[in-house]
Amino acid sequence: MFTECWTTKRNIKMTTNPPKIKLLFTGNERLQKIKESFHKKYGHMPLFYACAPGRVNLIGEHIDYCGYAVLPMAIEQSILAAVSVNDSQTIQLANTDPKYKDFTASAQSISIDKENPQWYYYFLCGVKGIQEHLGLPSLTGMCCVVDGTVPASSGLSSSSALVCCAGLVTMEANQKSLSKVTLAETCAKCERYIGTEGGGMDQSISFLAEEGTAKLIEFNPLRATDVKLPDGAMFVIANCCVEMNKAATSHFNMRVVECRIATKMLAKARGLEWSRLQKLGELQTELKVSLEKMQELVEDVLHPEAYSREEICKTLGISTEQLCENILSTNTQHATHFNLYQRAKHVYGEAARVLQFKAVCDSAPANAVAQLGNLMNQSHASCRDLYECSCPELDQLVDICLQAGAVGSRLTGAGWGGCTVSMVPSDRIDSFLQTVRERYYVPDARRAAMEKHSLFVTRPGGGAAIFTED
Ligand code: GLA
Repeated sequence: MFTECWTTKRNIKMTTNPPKIKLLFTGNERLQKIKESFHKKYGHMPLFYACAPGRVNLIGEHIDYCGYAVLPMAIEQSILAAVSVNDSQTIQLANTDPKYKDFTASAQSISIDKENPQWYYYFLCGVKGIQEHLGLPSLTGMCCVVDGTVPASSGLSSSSALVCCAGLVTMEANQKSLSKVTLAETCAKCERYIGTEGGGMDQSISFLAEEGTAKLIEFNPLRATDVKLPDGAMFVIANCCVEMNKAATSHFNMRVVECRIATKMLAKARGLEWSRLQKLGELQTELKVSLEKMQELVEDVLHPEAYSREEICKTLGISTEQLCENILSTNTQHATHFNLYQRAKHVYGEAARVLQFKAVCDSAPANAVAQLGNLMNQSHASCRDLYECSCPELDQLVDICLQAGAVGSRLTGAGWGGCTVSMVPSDRIDSFLQTVRERYYVPDARRAAMEKHSLFVTRPGGGAAIFTED
């Protein structure tokens, strides 16, 4: 497997740069293949390679953009790029998957079309982000071939892995050096050029992951702490086979906006200067109270019925124009109703579950697996009922996974399709896989055809790295 190639024995601190690893290519099929594709495409050999992994989030969904800690781990599936540099003043992009078309961009001025989220625009987000961060007036020309093993639109962060890989490629091609934290923050920011207002979880774990451990990722300042997962349980990813491209719909930004409005409404009710507060987490910091108290505040101040624009504007004392301009995003301008109570309840509850999950992993009680499973189940229920980011297929798959022997199962990533992650006692793993296969995949021809890359055990993988040939 590819991960073995970029595992390094050195203990890499977060402040360090992504590792540069010299590799023996012999026996590594994926590297050999991309090298051959590169040669066939451009007629010369790559200068270096860069790789950034996808991720699975174990718990802490839709709270990173509210300022709260999340608990993901990197997966073995990744985006790999083979790269050479030149003075053509262009960036030439090709993909090993023929369904993704070639693209050539000018190295001088990079533009990203939000209306048209093609694969190469994600790559160009990473390029542009690094260019701007480094203040480079122009970039070196590059030829790149990209190869992805993270299933697209599946909640495993294929898009962020592509942005991160591109960021790393751009840094290396231009002979610059940035720390993992800076790369993660820059790539989180620049992915927003595509239009979604994601938090920083995906980019942070892609750079800060280390093999063998999940991470608690905290923001402001960005930091990652090892979380040792319990012995005796395994994590299984299962794709519900409903594709979700978060840049193509407004679901994701709608949630971001609802959380932003909830922050302002709660802040106003507590007499704070609400206009500068954007995140539910900032509000808690300002009020200096516990997450439990924040949940009580939601109960006291917000009502479960959806809020209309008029009610929000009246409560905040703003005009509809101000709401549209300062609070709504470009793709939520049409929204008329906002579920503030449910979204805020989810965020504060989920933030507390992440801390409980970490505490159980740290103290490792005898019933750790059962406790963690329980937290994962609560997380799924909250995503389904309060945050409304599940879908019937994800709910069905979660139910099947629990019946098949998982102690915890939940949607992972943005939701509305994509994957579940289940925690399964190691001694039940074979029967678990068999049952899920029989009940979810086999009865449906489309799912059955996708099963090979849709149902698999995963272990915490390593973070992004650069490779050169020995
Ligand atoms: C996407 C975003 C992340 C995070 C998750 C939901 O993956 O990119 O920042 O918000 O959704 O937890």
